[in-house]
Amino acid sequence: MENIHPIFDSILSTSQKEGLLGQKALVIWMVGLSGSGKSTLARALENTLHQEGLLTCLLDGDNLRTGINNNLGFSEEDRVENIRRAAEVSKLFAQNGVITICSLISPTHEIRKMTREILGDTYFEVFVECPLEVCEERDVKGLYAKARRGEIKNFTGIDSPFEDPKTPELVLKTHKFDVEECLTQLVEQVKKRIKN
Ligand code: ADX
Repeated sequence: MENIHPIFDSILSTSQKEGLLGQKALVIWMVGLSGSGKSTLARALENTLHQEGLLTCLLDGDNLRTGINNNLGFSEEDRVENIRRAAEVSKLFAQNGVITICSLISPTHEIRKMTREILGDTYFEVFVECPLEVCEERDVKGLYAKARRGEIKNFTGIDSPFEDPKTPELVLKTHKFDVEECLTQLVEQVKKRIKN
């Protein structure tokens, strides 16, 4: 940090931005296996909030990996960096009053400890819970089949770990409830936190 002179104290504050937008910033961090339903729920949540006149931003792991994170793979080290960048970008959006919805596997306790530390009070972790067998059966992208055939290495849940979150703010069980039911639970919890 030598020779760096941040100006955090002299730029417009988050509450000024929140006041303009009539909302409170929040970072909704959707965690779960590939195929668990994170992106489906993230999109549905964003649509719902948008229709109610709220300003949102959706950051999806696959999308980020085509741009800001396009130099990263799926080693443990690269996943940490992938998530660190996503969390720092989310922090910038949240500092500007935007309700930010992130959909990334975020597979380990260590990774989620980092996101919680970076985002502080604005962090709202949602565990999109679905057993591996069900995700594998859905296999929307055909990636589990490829991983089983050995065509993808370090695939989460197959030969790379996924540690179930221990302290999420909300758990949505997508194998027990349909999208509408999960969305209702999600919207209800989020709305409590974004009222300005
Ligand atoms: S994370 O582990 O670093 O959080 P992220 O959410 O960005 O992962 O990316 C996961 C997406 O990348 C999956 O939804 C899938 O489409 C794709 N993908 C490609 N290879 C892998 C892999 N080895 N493990 C998990 N996902 C993979």
